[in-house]
Amino acid sequence: MRENMADFLTVDSLNKSFDGIVALENFSCKIKKKGILGLIGPNGAGKSTFFNVLTGFITCDSGKTNFMGTEITGKSADKIARMGISRTFQDLRLIRQIRVLDNILLCFRDQPGEKLRNTFIKNSLVRKKEKENKKKAVALLEYAGIADKAGSLANDLSYGQQKLLSITCCLAADADLLLLDEPVSGLNPVMIEKILSIISELPEKGKSVILIEHNMEAIMQISDRIIFMDTGKKISEGTPQEVRSDPRIIEAYLD
Ligand SMILES: Nc1ncnc2c1ncn2[C@@H]1O[C@H](COP(=O)(O)OP(=O)(O)O)[C@@H](O)[C@H]1O
Ligand SMILES: [Mg+2]
Repeated sequence: MRENMADFLTVDSLNKSFDGIVALENFSCKIKKKGILGLIGPNGAGKSTFFNVLTGFITCDSGKTNFMGTEITGKSADKIARMGISRTFQDLRLIRQIRVLDNILLCFRDQPGEKLRNTFIKNSLVRKKEKENKKKAVALLEYAGIADKAGSLANDLSYGQQKLLSITCCLAADADLLLLDEPVSGLNPVMIEKILSIISELPEKGKSVILIEHNMEAIMQISDRIIFMDTGKKISEGTPQEVRSDPRIIEAYLD
């Protein structure tokens, strides 16, 4: 276990401020392979900023991140995505005016035709790859239970279905590490259960997850470790049971 933790994702002392507002302060953590880490903390704690730094959407002021033996600090978002880190956004960021199926197709890491120069070879290979990808996309939508919506515009899905679609897009990227930003907040209990069951099956598919969520019950249910952060700092870390019984957390979450 220990060596796994060191090898997979090591985040070392990240700092990030926005015009003097500290969003991350010496934030460090280690993620083990096939683990589900829950990240909790009040609004403005720096949780989404951590995802933004990890995925290269913003640069940090200082600190280092090592992913599967490679330093990824300062690399572009595109490069980090190709290395195997995929994410959802709190505000989803689906492409709303295209079909559900096309949202998935755009997320495959091996887009057909990108590397081929010969047009003749390209045509037949690209067609074959496109067919394969379409099959994979339909299978993913079936897995998520929204295959009947494949031809609908993403914009026409319910909010819960849009959340499901954003997770399915993340699955399509076939990343080793998935970062999910509030995947069940604002959803009804049936949809919450559905999404939690998809997330909890990820480790057995070889995937690792970091999950930001305000729904305490949900995050305690599926995480094997929890980090509680506030004002950019790690306040507490441990198993769900340990963090749940930390007096500082009880104070922050219970009136
Ligand atoms: N792009 C940005 N520009 C300016 N300030 C930001 C930006 N992103 C986050 N912040 C600030 O950083 C702090 C942490 O925000 P955020 O990471 O979104 O918190 P959380 O996701 O835990 O609610 C907040 O004070 C927020 O206002
Ligand atoms: Mg956030």
